[in-house]
Amino acid sequence: MRVLELFSGLGGWRRALQDRGQVVAVYDVSEAANATYALNHDQVPRPKELATVPPQELLEHGADTWLLSPPCQPFCRMGNHRDLEDRRSRAFCHLMDVFREAPPDHLVLENVEGFLGSEAHALLSERVWAHGLHQLELQACSSHFGLPNQRPRVFIVASRKSLRPLPQPDLSPRPLADFLDAVEDERLYLQAEAHTRHHQGLDLVTAEDRRSACFIGGYGRRFVGSGSFLKTEQGVRRFSPSEVARLLGLPEGFRFPPNLSLEARYRLLGNGLSIPVATWALDHLGVH
Ligand SMILES: C[S@@+](CC[C@H](N)C(=O)[O-])C[C@H]1O[C@@H](n2cnc3c(N)ncnc32)[C@H](O)[C@@H]1O
Repeated sequence: MRVLELFSGLGGWRRALQDRGQVVAVYDVSEAANATYALNHDQVPRPKELATVPPQELLEHGADTWLLSPPCQPFCRMGNHRDLEDRRSRAFCHLMDVFREAPPDHLVLENVEGFLGSEAHALLSERVWAHGLHQLELQACSSHFGLPNQRPRVFIVASRKSLRPLPQPDLSPRPLADFLDAVEDERLYLQAEAHTRHHQGLDLVTAEDRRSACFIGGYGRRFVGSGSFLKTEQGVRRFSPSEVARLLGLPEGFRFPPNLSLEARYRLLGNGLSIPVATWALDHLGVH
């Protein structure tokens, strides 16, 4: 596979791809995401607004596969549900115009559950069918892949090859203790005032638990509905970015640029892919 990685973030698709293909070009508009990608992979993403990239430029890479995770806010439970009307869908619409003229042989798109049944979903399906490609709609959660974290996601897999759904592993989640840092960062503990103000709405878990709530991009700032908080003998604290990274299935060697703020790290992770789930979605293309 010759892969275009679009909306690349910290490079979850590339991580899931491993050596099943060659990533020929990578696009993301975020400086923080691109610095993190470049540090972890031997490639520098193109820092471009995808809605304005000329179709010719995208086609010149000679890619036969598109892997993409467009912004999910237009389809999110907590978003505005403006779907294709949302300005953050402009890049997706542009890519659908390119697809109409020159579709790749394979495409895998990841998004939140709200993408299913959206106008964006209908537009993609229309393009896929118009070119005679096959399509699968998959739903999966990292909690079925051995990870103690809720991350329900939708994958649209399209291909010139015929497709059939593969079984999910259905592994029991391991305890959170397996994912915690050896040395705690004391700064992650909530101060008394924040604890008093928010404790009733917090999703609290302990190291023995085998679950945690989905971590969203705002976890560094928000308390309620943004992810779980860990209760220890010492108090209540946020999960560290490296703990959240492990819960996404990122490897120990995964790194952030040293000068990247804590909030920015949580934002990138909150946008990220669960690696075992993305790997399973890619398996549907039948390249091992
Ligand atoms: C849901 S995240 C993708 C996460 C990625 N799959 C990963 O593994 O980290 C969406 C990404 O798209 C980028 N993005 C959003 N709008 C964009 C646009 N119009 N052009 C280029 N990149 C964009 C954001 O900076 C963000 O990194």
